Amino acid sequence: MGLSIISLHCLILGLFLQLAVGYGSNVSYDSRSFIIDGQRKLLISTAIHYPRSVPAMWPGLIQLAKEGGANVIESYVFWNGHELSPDNYYFEGRYDLVKFIKTVQQSGMYMMLRIGPFVAAEWNFGGVPVWLHYVPGTVFRTDNEPWKYYMKKFTTYIVNLMKKERLFASQGGPIIMAQVENEYGYYEQSYGDGGKKYAMWAAKMALSQNIGVPWIMCQQWDAPAPVINTCNGFYCDDFTPISSNSPKIWTENWPGWFKTFGDVDPHRPVEDVAYAVARFFQKGGSVHNYYMYHGGTNFGRTAGGPFITTSYDYDAPIDEYGLPRLPKWGHLKELHGALKLCENALITGERTNVSLGPQQEANVYIDSSGGCAAFLANMDNKTDTVVKFRNMTYHLPAWSVSILPDCKNVVYNTAKVGSQASVIDMVPEDLRPSMVSPSKDLKALQWEVFVEKPGIWAKPEFNMTGFVDHINTTKDTTDYLWLTTSLYVDSNEKFLKGSSSPVLSVKSKGHALHVFVNQELQGSGFGNGTVFSFESEIPISLKAGKNEIALLSMTVGLQTAGPKYEWIGAGLTSVEIKGFNKGTVNLTKFNWTYKIGLLGEYLNLYKGETLKSTNWVSTTEPPKRKPLTWYKALVDPPSGKEPVGLDMIHMGKGLAWLNGEEIGRYWPRKSPKHHDCVDHCDYRGKFLPNKCSTGCGEPTQRWYHVPRSWFKPSGNVLVIFEETGGDPTQIRFSKRKASGVCSLVSEDHPSITVDSWTTAVKDTNDKKPTAQLSCPSNTRISAIKFASFGNPSGACGSYNQGDCHDPNSASVLEKVCLNRSDCSIELSKENFDLSYCPGTVRSLAVEAVCS
Ligand SMILES: *[C@@H]1O[C@H](CO)[C@@H](O)[C@H](O)[C@H]1NC(C)=O
Ligand SMILES: *[C@@H]1O[C@H](CO)[C@@H](O)[C@H](O)[C@H]1NC(C)=O
Ligand SMILES: *[C@@H]1O[C@H](CO)[C@@H](O)[C@H](O)[C@H]1NC(C)=O
Ligand SMILES: *[C@@H]1O[C@H](CO)[C@@H](O)[C@H](O)[C@H]1NC(C)=O
Ligand SMILES: *[C@@H]1O[C@H](CO)[C@@H](O)[C@H](O)[C@H]1NC(C)=O
Ligand SMILES: *[C@@H]1O[C@H](CO)[C@@H](O)[C@H](O)[C@H]1NC(C)=O
Ligand SMILES: *[C@@H]1O[C@H](CO)[C@@H](O)[C@H](O)[C@H]1NC(C)=O
Ligand SMILES: *[C@@H]1O[C@H](CO)[C@@H](O)[C@H](O)[C@H]1NC(C)=O
Ligand SMILES: *[C@@H]1O[C@H](CO)[C@@H](O)[C@H](O)[C@H]1NC(C)=O
Ligand SMILES: *[C@@H]1O[C@H](CO)[C@@H](O)[C@H](O)[C@H]1NC(C)=O
Repeated sequence: MGLSIISLHCLILGLFLQLAVGYGSNVSYDSRSFIIDGQRKLLISTAIHYPRSVPAMWPGLIQLAKEGGANVIESYVFWNGHELSPDNYYFEGRYDLVKFIKTVQQSGMYMMLRIGPFVAAEWNFGGVPVWLHYVPGTVFRTDNEPWKYYMKKFTTYIVNLMKKERLFASQGGPIIMAQVENEYGYYEQSYGDGGKKYAMWAAKMALSQNIGVPWIMCQQWDAPAPVINTCNGFYCDDFTPISSNSPKIWTENWPGWFKTFGDVDPHRPVEDVAYAVARFFQKGGSVHNYYMYHGGTNFGRTAGGPFITTSYDYDAPIDEYGLPRLPKWGHLKELHGALKLCENALITGERTNVSLGPQQEANVYIDSSGGCAAFLANMDNKTDTVVKFRNMTYHLPAWSVSILPDCKNVVYNTAKVGSQASVIDMVPEDLRPSMVSPSKDLKALQWEVFVEKPGIWAKPEFNMTGFVDHINTTKDTTDYLWLTTSLYVDSNEKFLKGSSSPVLSVKSKGHALHVFVNQELQGSGFGNGTVFSFESEIPISLKAGKNEIALLSMTVGLQTAGPKYEWIGAGLTSVEIKGFNKGTVNLTKFNWTYKIGLLGEYLNLYKGETLKSTNWVSTTEPPKRKPLTWYKALVDPPSGKEPVGLDMIHMGKGLAWLNGEEIGRYWPRKSPKHHDCVDHCDYRGKFLPNKCSTGCGEPTQRWYHVPRSWFKPSGNVLVIFEETGGDPTQIRFSKRKASGVCSLVSEDHPSITVDSWTTAVKDTNDKKPTAQLSCPSNTRISAIKFASFGNPSGACGSYNQGDCHDPNSASVLEKVCLNRSDCSIELSKENFDLSYCPGTVRSLAVEAVCS
């Protein structure tokens, strides 16, 4: 059979693509923008850290970033995930960096590779391998020979790997820029002369790698050209790069914030995120990266801190589980669309500044073909205003930017959120016993249980008088370190006869401690994400004669940044018991016996393959509230396809695994009740992480992401190590589901006459405000749960009718939307009765159920 036209066409196209791939791109820059093969680019970048999700999620996440209007994916490189011991490299699974970048390439996006290799990133030890701290003579991040040797070696290793796979744009790959070091400028001074020397060395070392694309250094106010210094922060519109030949780059715009166990849940309102982004481009920025766009999960013990939660959701545009966070994702997508319309004027045009008022300004960009784009900003953090611009008037909400890609029509205002919101549920499902379970009784879940004995479980590491540093001892091979001693109590101690109990008083550099006396748990002590060290007073029971004291000291993620952060230790510094007839007994200088880790860790109980191990005891009624207990169950995956979270609300603190994969630390520790939380977040004014928190008095993290790809069709081994005691029969898988969608739109502001020549106040391109609803794929609108045209209040999932309400609202919506995957409805007199509450700005709020 001869070649058909189509296959010939494919052959030619294929040949062409091959050639195109073979050619490298010329990536350069000037003060306006990056220039790729002679073309100026507006770069909208999104941080997605490859080890914070799983390879099965990568294509979907990258696609969602692309659909969200981004054209670059950014990631750090995680040294301690890759170089497990000197020269022992790992690039499998979640650490398959090459596969991740090739996935980015296949999606047609660019890559910003922040090699570091110091990264901070709320990641354990800032990404540096703990073993390097124990290479004699090493001091991190300064002019220190061992540090520079290992840093250069790893950087070169990564660069060579990228070159071998032809991943730099100069070789035809997607990587258009790379970063060396990370936010070093904050700390350079604290390293004395070594600081500056090191920063200059790092820049030179990077340039010597000859990658053919530009290098950047963020928050580095003395970066030597051609290395570009870039900005990180909640706002970077005021940033100016050192070199007048460098473009204005924002490497980290934080659209949310991370969480620590025991603290509240921070949120950054999308109106403020969009405002910050629009202001940056208004002021000449051309490269912008969301840190994070998908935060993901700190699986296993990769969370840094101390106390960073296993969830690294970050309130990012894509949530931890990979679902778009609405309206954040949608509102930013619309912003990117508006910016794209301005691209040519923004990066080639002449910029002029126009004052529109004391706190109002416009920037106008006019390109050589006469294309005009304008940004109108109202920086007032309280008051909406109306401004005159080019013979028109515009309504500008407080703390907002309007974008006019033709200098006339507003296509976007940062404070007017048109995107739909969604109702996200965690739908619980009982653990389902697996069909391959040895138990024939399939109704009851069969548990296997292994209880650790508190204290030394095998030959101790060493005995010594007093305390050693916890991290120096475990070298972070485990969170756990046992310290034991014994104490003789005379039978005439008064507390033995029922007077108040003795109190163990501990001081620790951090991070956490459980106290056992004579095999019984007495109490615990913890630091928190603000103050890592702690002092605790724990009432204990002692008996006459010899008492065994066993202390389980724990780290909860190592320090991630700060001057000389690697020297900050952890562990006990003082232990006393108060309440003896003679007062206090100081145990600090007792003989302490040390044992690193847990017996269960040593036995690899968390690995799937130890299924037949004789250590486990089978039962359908696992013990509850039992400290130091390992639980194992064979389970089927939860039904459906939705992402899965493990609900640990009824557990204490510990670690969890599925099929030997590390889910991570769990700890449904509650945040203080009194902490400032808000019901309604006012987006106006400068954002700080504590501005719009929720979850006061609630567990910081209740659900723990278990990627779907970790499940087998049956026979999944779920292993839990519980430190203090919980109820494993209440553990559930919860499915994360967008069960409903909402839209809240308001009428345009009524015309305000400022001058005789006023035409009308321009809002959104003369288009009538329109509510739009769209269900997740394969679902349809099955009910209108709420609809009110009038003055409804509240948020998606909890709207309330106001005193003004068109009673036909629901039926109007039902007619248009029921049984459709998406629908839209204008706020027009054809659809609604406009006689309600005349003279006010009316809104339509709708919540629809998708199923
Ligand atoms: C790359 O582009 C820059 C600016 O457009 C130009 O000055 C330079 O000569 C080009 N380099 C190569 C190798 O083509
Ligand atoms: C952390 O601990 C310190 C000292 O005990 C305390 O002042 C602070 O309020 C705690 N922070 C939180 C969020 O609980
Ligand atoms: C616009 O304002 C900025 C900041 O105030 C200033 O640096 C710049 O020179 C101004 N540009 C023009 C064209 O006036
Ligand atoms: C604004 O109106 C004035 C007076 O009608 C006119 O001269 C001027 O050209 C107009 N400017 C713009 C930008 O349309
Ligand atoms: C350490 O002390 C314990 C308890 O006193 C004792 O049993 C053990 O033999 C000692 N081990 C070493 C290595 O000294
Ligand atoms: C850890 O051990 C090193 C010696 O290896 C010592 O210099 C350092 O001070 C110790 N750190 C702490 C926090 O005790
Ligand atoms: C307990 O002993 C340690 C070590 O000798 C000492 O530093 C500490 O101050 C003592 N505590 C009290 C309350 O005396
Ligand atoms: C600690 O152990 C050593 C050797 O085993 C012994 O000589 C010493 O008396 C013990 N000290 C205390 C405070 O128990
Ligand atoms: C609002 O702006 C005023 C004046 O610039 C400032 O003093 C105030 O702190 C700001 N408030 C907020 C919440 O940002
Ligand atoms: C909903 O739409 C589906 C597919 O078009 C159709 O089969 C079904 O009959 C419709 N149901 C109702 C209640 O209209």
